[in-house]
Amino acid sequence: AIEKLELKARIRQLLKEKQAVLVAHYYVDAELQDLAEETGGCVSDSLEMARFGRDHPAKTLVVAGVKFMGETAKILSPEKTILMPDLDATCSLDLGCPADEFAAFCDAHPDRTVVVYANTSAAVKARADWMVTSSIGLDIVAHLHAQGKKILWAPDKHLGAYIQKQTGADMLLWQGSCLVHDEFKGIELDVLKAEHPHAKVLVHPESPAAVVALADVVGSTSQMIHAAMTLDAEEFIVATDNGILHKMQMAAPGKRFIVAPTAGNSATCKSCAHCPWMAMNGLRNLLQVLENGNNEIQVDPAVGQKAKVCIDRMLDFAA
Ligand code: 13P
Ligand code: SF4
Repeated sequence: AIEKLELKARIRQLLKEKQAVLVAHYYVDAELQDLAEETGGCVSDSLEMARFGRDHPAKTLVVAGVKFMGETAKILSPEKTILMPDLDATCSLDLGCPADEFAAFCDAHPDRTVVVYANTSAAVKARADWMVTSSIGLDIVAHLHAQGKKILWAPDKHLGAYIQKQTGADMLLWQGSCLVHDEFKGIELDVLKAEHPHAKVLVHPESPAAVVALADVVGSTSQMIHAAMTLDAEEFIVATDNGILHKMQMAAPGKRFIVAPTAGNSATCKSCAHCPWMAMNGLRNLLQVLENGNNEIQVDPAVGQKAKVCIDRMLDFAA
């Protein structure tokens, strides 16, 4: 415990010395989330992380999350130094959508407006008309649908299917998925709901349709936390990465949160409600990058410039 205190003290000191700010996601270690908040950084969903990083005057951003979040920060602020505790922290959605295959998919459907989820590489974003995050994807697709646009969507098939169902838009879906949310199971959730008849169910839309169908609220991580605070209930079943429980418990003290059921026990489940890449962020490697300035995110400037167009569209729409 003493060692942890020392690590945190040193991190606080270096953030100040280097005029750096910590931008964290709700799925990383509780200690990193707390440090981000305490030191004037932010902990939030991916839309807010992007906006905060762009608007903050610090010259260095340390992004505690996964690679696409660091890349988005770099694309929006090429003049800033973006560091990450571990550059190998990726995302199954990003891995499952290689830029060359995606380009061929787009080439085959030139009549469609290309909408990609934030959880993609800079090269994939460079090919898109719009980028969206889970908090605003529905509104943006509804807006495009109202203009009569047909959509090519990538990479998350569950989020795509959810948006398609809600908006009625014509959407051609890439078949990617998040290895964490894909493990949540509808039948088991139904059983758990019956055991907790007063609990409200909060679901991230990367979850399968059978799970989304049982939700009281479907939304981004920030929207799920907001629902935990504002809904009149004592108990909640939560279908997303369990890293979110830290913030939920702080934001809604006295309420009870239960993680939704996954495929089985930890022997059969690839990543039971916790993202293995988010888990690569820790106090130790955070301190290391602050000390050494290593693990800098680089995005090819030409690719970054193209990718920025679709991110700016989203941020302007959200403003
Ligand atoms: P949010 O934008 O809702 O925080 O989601 C990011 C993510 O990676 C969810 O798995
Ligand atoms: Fe990607 Fe899923 Fe991890 Fe989010 S939780 S970063 S979507 S693998």
